Amino acid sequence: MSTDTKKKLRSAQWFGTNDKNGFMYRSWMKNQGIPDHEFDGRPIIGICNTWSELTPCNAHFRKLAEHVKRGVLEAGGFPVEFPVFSNGESNLRPTAMLTRNLASMDVEEAIRGNPVDAVVLLVGCDKTTPALLMGAASCDVPSIVVSGGPMLNGKLLGKDIGSGTAVWRLHEDLKAGAISLHHFLAAEGGMSRSAGTCNTMGTASTMACMAEALGVSLPHNAAIPAVDARRYVLAHMSGQRIVEMAHEGLTLSKVLTRAAFENAIRTNAAIGGSTNAVIHLKAIAGRIGVELELDDWTRIGKGTPTLVDLQPSGRFLMEEFYYAGGLPAVLRRLGEAGLLPHPDALTVNGQSLWDNVQDAPSYDDEVIRPLDRPLIDDGGICVLRGNLAPRGAVLKPSAASPHLLRHRGRAVVFENFEHYKERINDESLEVDANSVLVMKNCGPRGYPGMAEVGNMGLPPKLLRQGVKDMVRISDARMSGTAYGTVVLHVAPEAAAGGPLAAVRDGDWIELDCAQGRLHLDISEAELAERLSHFQPPESPMQGGYQQLYRDRVLQADEGCDFDFLVGCRGAAVPRHSH
Ligand code: FES
Repeated sequence: MSTDTKKKLRSAQWFGTNDKNGFMYRSWMKNQGIPDHEFDGRPIIGICNTWSELTPCNAHFRKLAEHVKRGVLEAGGFPVEFPVFSNGESNLRPTAMLTRNLASMDVEEAIRGNPVDAVVLLVGCDKTTPALLMGAASCDVPSIVVSGGPMLNGKLLGKDIGSGTAVWRLHEDLKAGAISLHHFLAAEGGMSRSAGTCNTMGTASTMACMAEALGVSLPHNAAIPAVDARRYVLAHMSGQRIVEMAHEGLTLSKVLTRAAFENAIRTNAAIGGSTNAVIHLKAIAGRIGVELELDDWTRIGKGTPTLVDLQPSGRFLMEEFYYAGGLPAVLRRLGEAGLLPHPDALTVNGQSLWDNVQDAPSYDDEVIRPLDRPLIDDGGICVLRGNLAPRGAVLKPSAASPHLLRHRGRAVVFENFEHYKERINDESLEVDANSVLVMKNCGPRGYPGMAEVGNMGLPPKLLRQGVKDMVRISDARMSGTAYGTVVLHVAPEAAAGGPLAAVRDGDWIELDCAQGRLHLDISEAELAERLSHFQPPESPMQGGYQQLYRDRVLQADEGCDFDFLVGCRGAAVPRHSH
């Protein structure tokens, strides 16, 4: 029977009394076959599951959850699995980012409203990691991340191919007439041949690395392949550990400190991580009350070498990354070079980040490069400012062409993504390799969710001439699997009246990554005159969630959270209804 004596845990406020309320809370739970002794005050561990067959990257999560449960039970906890909104990148339209904040609300309310003392966050596909961390951070209960792990290497005609990155390359080859449609379609099955997330250093892998660098997962969480038995061992051990964390009261805010975010920013540079991390880390930090600014990416990331030679910046895939030593090997190399800003930052296993990685072995210097032979000397996300982006824009140098990082060219302007699709294949389009492709109205409000369309495909006539890269500028995001000299997240966005809205065909634009400068070469007076005629674009959908999104979403430099969701509201138990 339950007793009145164990009230330390949060769940005791549901199950810890023998009055009418305790009766009711326990009675309904017992319809699942749960015996009396499980309500003896042991920690109740929520397993927050983003399983969905429409999120193929997370489709193996039922099995993952079973292994978490084994660990929880072994450690004397009471596991309860619950579903939350699963925003899968590959299927959701218009973009999975549209529902990141929605999923975070689901997670926050599910945690706060239910009798859970601690949570295991089962995450995988891009937006599921930030969404669950944002929701859990707003509650600040003990939390541990278990990622689903990457897919095995893709295979095509005997060669390895990487998720997403292969699609962009093959599609450009197809448009340039370099490969047949048969060749193109043959990659479909070979690219995605096992359970798991994208096997490149795309956004999913980046966010899994961010979770590990932030200290909210056990070591090696980022890279163990989804189908490797050690992924399930990690899930089991995370289940064990979360029970201890519930007893210790090791809440998320003790781990997600300013120091943890600085470690993550440095790590992102070292892994050649996705630009999406800039937005997601800001949003997570906002939920836990940590100040993080766009310029922190310059201050902490600039000058950091990229050590990990993974696609889309480099050659290899996540499988090789794990076999080469995974993220612990990278963190050790950074730490030994004095490049880990806060080695003493606490992690969820109760040890410091440095304790966890100081003896981590490396097995392959081609995949995880030594400091004196990096993939890129300065791999930190480049933050750009100027009259075209007063509140900033970003570019990923490791995925860009070095010769374009300082560039002056004439704008070819697309008013929105549809306009781009209409014009880009037009053989009479006035464009050459020196031009700068500019796309408007794809920011958080303009294309609700800020779609990953910033890496605009090049005009076919230039592809046929052998042009491989051009400077592209937009207020959109870019898939972490994509590459190119692509300026993203221009803020304020065009749909909010930012200067991007004023760019016209033929304007000169200057990009200088070393100086962090993005300049529209027109006078201040001319810019002001053009902007005085600004009209916000028509929205295709009125009402519903998209209306809420447009009305309340913050700009890219603020993490695209909803203004009313920023902050930690804690896990105080809401009033009960009985
Ligand atoms: Fe899900 Fe890439 S589409 S991780």
